[in-house]
Amino acid sequence: MMKKMNRTKVICLAVIAGMMLSACVGMTPAANDSSVDQKVADTTAATSDSASGQEQPLQDIHSNDGREIVGISMPSHLLERWSRDGKHLKRQFKKAGYEVELKYADDLIDAQIHDIEDMIADGADLLLVSPIDASSLVRVLEQANEVNIPVIAYDRLIRKTSAVDYYISFDNYMVGALQGGYIEEALDLPHAKEGAYNIEFTSGDSADNNARYFYNGMFDLLEPYIEAGILQVPSGQMSYFETAISSWSTDLAEERFSGLLNSYYLGGKRLDCAACANDSTALGVTRAITSDYHKKNTVVVTGQDADQPNLKNIIDGKQSMTVYKALSNEAVVALALGKAIMEGQDPKEDLIEASDWDFDCVYDTESYDNGKIVVPSYLLEPIVITKDNIQTELIDTGYYVIGEDGYPVAATK
Ligand code: BGC
Repeated sequence: MMKKMNRTKVICLAVIAGMMLSACVGMTPAANDSSVDQKVADTTAATSDSASGQEQPLQDIHSNDGREIVGISMPSHLLERWSRDGKHLKRQFKKAGYEVELKYADDLIDAQIHDIEDMIADGADLLLVSPIDASSLVRVLEQANEVNIPVIAYDRLIRKTSAVDYYISFDNYMVGALQGGYIEEALDLPHAKEGAYNIEFTSGDSADNNARYFYNGMFDLLEPYIEAGILQVPSGQMSYFETAISSWSTDLAEERFSGLLNSYYLGGKRLDCAACANDSTALGVTRAITSDYHKKNTVVVTGQDADQPNLKNIIDGKQSMTVYKALSNEAVVALALGKAIMEGQDPKEDLIEASDWDFDCVYDTESYDNGKIVVPSYLLEPIVITKDNIQTELIDTGYYVIGEDGYPVAATK
């Protein structure tokens, strides 16, 4: 079967009914992190016949090419978690004998669409996609669907399309609830009086479906304390959109939080809690607190991902907690599911029952409505990490090792 030579998008088209599109030329080497070595010839990429302006059906080039290729499209390698995800996924699928085409789109929506088009053209038999923008992949996934390539939304839900077969993630609402529960306990909110504490919120990227779940999980728990006046929000900024940070950027989170501290916390006002949706934003918020907050109290700072700089901050007392999601386990589920789908099975609950996983995972057919369909989901369980359980939960389990500087480093488990 014909394969292409470069990362330029190639959509092999049947030109008219019964006639195959003749192959094309391009010979530039593959860019990006792709391990697909044999490539198809480049073609003029188009989803419509430029002469007639008519949409042409795509050609299935993957089913009978004798190869099993898994296309993995990740949002960005700049955030630690995705770079770790990519490594785990690639290792799992390669160990099981699949070819892997792994691409990072560096938070550019167009680049991600282009990456997926490349994978379709390269003959991918399965797509694992973590969208940058949950709603921007409708058209490209229709193309995948047209040539029967199954799609798994990986960690982030893909919205507004029925061309997604499964979703694998952690229980995202629970992530927020764990952060909120930590704050509730750390500040002993059930026993606190009106006016007791000041809190500020930092949410994730609003284009990421997960961000809303994290926010709701935390906010549902803390809202009664805000309504009772026990928690006060001096900036007044507490809605999801007001507190969202584009691209989950550390720098933008720092900038916003410095602004808050310099506007609402002058004159000795105490900040008790910075409720941050994840570690990349917590890192920026912690920097802002270090440079622009001048009282001596310890501020409760939450996070998520157990990124290395944040674990260091937890050990050093600058961040209070993070929520750990074992990415290596998420990759194990991805392999089991991907394998079953590529073998022509129709996995459901039975995938979990037949596994020998040493971690919890539930099959959920109700929670993740993407605006078109409810996507069947495999959800893993997140856990709270503090200074007190880093050793038992992260080191003793082998997820992390202690690095040369004495701080935890993610293991290649
Ligand atoms: C993931 C988080 C991550 C965030 C930013 C979310 O979709 O679930 O683990 O912190 O993206 O990368």
